[in-house]
Amino acid sequence: MKIATILGTRPEIIKLSPLIPLLDKEFEQVLIHTGQHYSYTMDEIFFEDLKLRDCDYTLNVGSGTHAQQTGKMIMKLEEVLLNEKPDVVLVQGDTNSTFAGAITASKLQIKVVHVEAGCRSFDRKMPEEINRTLVDHCSDFLFAPDKKAFNNLVAEGVPREKIYLVGNTSIDACLRAMKLFNQDKLNDFSLEKENYALLTIHRQENTGHEKLKEILNAINTITDRLKVVFPVHLRTKNIIDEYEIQINDNLILTDPLGYKDFMGLLANSKFVMTDSGGVQEEAAVLNVPCLILRDNTEWMSYVELGKNMLLGTDQRKIAEYVVDLLNNEGKLDDMKQIKAYIKEGASENIISILKTELIFKQ
Ligand code: UD1
Ligand code: UDP
Repeated sequence: MKIATILGTRPEIIKLSPLIPLLDKEFEQVLIHTGQHYSYTMDEIFFEDLKLRDCDYTLNVGSGTHAQQTGKMIMKLEEVLLNEKPDVVLVQGDTNSTFAGAITASKLQIKVVHVEAGCRSFDRKMPEEINRTLVDHCSDFLFAPDKKAFNNLVAEGVPREKIYLVGNTSIDACLRAMKLFNQDKLNDFSLEKENYALLTIHRQENTGHEKLKEILNAINTITDRLKVVFPVHLRTKNIIDEYEIQINDNLILTDPLGYKDFMGLLANSKFVMTDSGGVQEEAAVLNVPCLILRDNTEWMSYVELGKNMLLGTDQRKIAEYVVDLLNNEGKLDDMKQIKAYIKEGASENIISILKTELIFKQ
């Protein structure tokens, strides 16, 4: 049984990291990197940090418009899949690499496995919402990370027998790498534990120069109360540089960080402000209060619990809310008291289902 696993971006590498060695053990696995992310700090550093094996193919697709990037991926993936003839293609998440992998495989009548199926923000302006919805509807095995995702798929008419509620491989990645988390960056940036906030911004809808300026202006205003560390995604860095967006001294910008350094900073922060999907999940696992710089999220269970907070992107709202939080730290403690349902083992669940369905039942 041959499985082709396709990845291309930072979160896919991280979230597939617990699964890749298991797939190698149980199946013949071809590992294909589209090359959507290619800079050392967005790509190779994660293979090093998470001790992953080399990919069998790297397609070097690189950056471009959605159509250019996705189109190139589809053409190159088709060639590899025709050559390798896998029985199944496995994709993760909601990126252009995920979509290209799923659509290419399904047109070649190769079965598609979607890890992290069914997540919905119900915001069709997000390119990710389009990707994940289309991928789900051409997949044969849909591995939902939580009950909400499972129910979303049922509500969209995906046949129940294709959907499996397995949990979240991001939790596996986080719990299994925890002993490697590195606190060196606290010293590098002269930070004290739980006396700084962490910030990440990279969503397309938050990196138009006006919106980005608005968010960073809000963050600038709180840095007289608290240091904020900002590992800057390369998309975001380009905009900050091009538009010369003002950054105050206590807003500490750094290159994108490896997983061990980033998670060390997250685990020790007072709270995190982010528009990342993955960071929302990790904050819940590490019990770090999380303010979401978006109007909606595909990870609503943590928000409904009160563990994460949907703050939005309005300049005044961000500034006022954070100042209020710093004046009433009890609110942060309350967020920490809430227990989220964190369960390890999604990766093993996926392997066990794939073995049953693809080997024993054939
Ligand atoms: C992509 C995903 C997004 C995911 C994010 C993870 C899509 C539509 N978006 O967004 O869902 O949350 O990855 O980080 O697939 N760049 C570099 N070097 C790199 C990668 C990117 O310089 O290695 C710069 C380029 O200027 C590029 C820009 O970042 O144009 C955006 O990269 P791209 O992969 O298109 O989208 P992301 O914003 O990374
Ligand atoms: N991350 C990292 N270094 C950073 C920023 C993020 O290792 O400087 C990790 C983070 O721990 C999470 C993943 O990258 O696992 C999230 O990726 P990103 O925010 O780029 O994408 P999303 O999850 O929103 O798709």
